[in-house]
Amino acid sequence: PGQIHESLNPLKWLIGTWKSVSAKGAYPTISPFTYCEEISFESIGQPMLNYTSKSWHPEKGNPMHLESGYLRIFPGSKISFMVAHNFGLTTLEEGTVQGNTVQLKSKQISRMTHAKEPAVTEVQRDYKLNENGQLEMVMCMATSKTPMTEHLRVIYEKFVQ
Ligand code: HEM
Repeated sequence: PGQIHESLNPLKWLIGTWKSVSAKGAYPTISPFTYCEEISFESIGQPMLNYTSKSWHPEKGNPMHLESGYLRIFPGSKISFMVAHNFGLTTLEEGTVQGNTVQLKSKQISRMTHAKEPAVTEVQRDYKLNENGQLEMVMCMATSKTPMTEHLRVIYEKFVQ
């Protein structure tokens, strides 16, 4: 990694590039599916982490959901995560880092006028570094049609520090 700004110390365990070893998706309105994903939380010396995620189809290899954004930390371990999604959405998620966990809830969501229905109305995601050094993520969302329900459950392993 580059230089790590001292304010990021509570998030040090998240820094790096991670690859899914298990990634599952589901929702009441769709068929369950699996996918592959690579995410990166990179430090370039600023008091924030630069984030990217790319996912692809496990057999066909075609790109699926893509995200990019910034994770900033504020005094008191408060964090804000601003993410742009390739399907026409931006989410501003806020929460805290506590030990080996990060918990985030959407504060604002904006959406391109002609983006696909249903509209996402709320997002929650939790990251946790488990006892095997793997990163676990669970994402839940609510849409204009469905109340808050789990959509994604992923286990990642770090392959670049
Ligand atoms: C479906 C949102 C991440 C794959 C959906 C739907 C929404 C959504 C709103 C439609 C649900 C419905 O019709 O009721 C999101 C949000 C994400 C996210 C907000 C991130 C914060 C991902 C990721 C993948 C993925 C990482 C990985 C490949 C799918 C698939 C479907 C789906 C395959 C069903 C097919 C489709 O409707 O296009 N997602 N998603 N999603 N999502 Fe996600």
